[in-house]
Amino acid sequence: LFSAIEMAPRDPILGITEAYNADQNPAKVNLGVGVYYDDNGKVPLLECVKKAEAILIEKYAPRTYLPIEGLAAYDRAVQDLVFGADSAVVKEKRAVTAQAIGGTGALKLGADFLKRLAPDSEVWISDPSWENHRALFESAGFKVNAYPYYDAATRGVNFAGMLNALQTMPAGSIVLLHACCHNPTGADLTNEQWTQVIEAVTSRGLIPFLDMAYQGFGDGIEADGQVVRRFAEAGGALFVSNSFSKSFSLYGERVGALNIAASSAEEASRVMSQLKRVIRTNYSNPPSHGGQVVATVLATPELRQLWEDELAGMRVRIREMRNAFVSKLKTKAPAQNFDFVIQQRGMFSYSGLSKEQVGQLRDKHSIYAVDTGRICVAALNSKNIDGVIDAIASVL
Ligand code: LMR
Repeated sequence: LFSAIEMAPRDPILGITEAYNADQNPAKVNLGVGVYYDDNGKVPLLECVKKAEAILIEKYAPRTYLPIEGLAAYDRAVQDLVFGADSAVVKEKRAVTAQAIGGTGALKLGADFLKRLAPDSEVWISDPSWENHRALFESAGFKVNAYPYYDAATRGVNFAGMLNALQTMPAGSIVLLHACCHNPTGADLTNEQWTQVIEAVTSRGLIPFLDMAYQGFGDGIEADGQVVRRFAEAGGALFVSNSFSKSFSLYGERVGALNIAASSAEEASRVMSQLKRVIRTNYSNPPSHGGQVVATVLATPELRQLWEDELAGMRVRIREMRNAFVSKLKTKAPAQNFDFVIQQRGMFSYSGLSKEQVGQLRDKHSIYAVDTGRICVAALNSKNIDGVIDAIASVL
């Protein structure tokens, strides 16, 4: 059976962590995967999570199966966070939320569900997009196309190209959009540009699928969630995958959700019934611990405040690293302008480093980045940044 099986290539992002883990150099730095590290280079365990876990341990609750769609308290809290507790879609019970195995799991549920609903539609992702988007939708059976997004010349968004693509796609096309903190470029749309995107998507009958894996890492929880709210207000079917991997630093717990806006409560209940079939045939029902933690934090006012403060702390530290990165490169590599790094949002920067330069950083300096030049700014800290800057200056 396996005699002719070919070796698969390493995953373009998680494969970097594998190579990094195997590297014996004590000065190695992993700027590949999208993980937030604190100033000591550690993945933080948030205080709000510790406190919620202490509450949960006290309860010694039995570990029975969760419902297919996940913990009810979690789904409710996530729905309020994603759409807004006071939003029409929530108040009119038109929203459907199912706990999912991280943001990736939510995307896969949405993709499998859409393949059943709209088998002939094609999917459009941004050029470039998160490395796994294409593979994930292709594995659900879709043809995946790319719409123009990043403009390497301006280091910003090729908005005219993007809008033109939206205006010429066949009706019923599925459009994957990054709600905030675009992965991999860090280049987001302005509010005015979103207005035009929402208008194009709704007027042309496209199916929007918003991926929101970094809420709170751009300008704040509320500000980063605005695009979802605006799409929901515009009406029409809407898919939103969200994740707490980064915002709660709960990577290994795989806590996310698929959120769908339907046009009536009755339609929403039919949507949920079908979504449950997708979940049941994939993994039956989700694990409980991460969902319990997030639900406890979101529903407990002082823990929620603590979470918002801790998330703000992560956001501010990333900004400080962006500023330090740019100002240090001004000294070490004055011929090149990296000011664009300060404008970018979220964990990532499309640094402009070429594949060859990324290779040199890895081979000569044990500094790991994605081949496309994406670096995770959230992995820089006051101890490793000088080494990283010297290495980058040497390969430029
Ligand atoms: C990333 O883009 O690095 C993260 O979303 C982690 C992943 O699963 O790829």
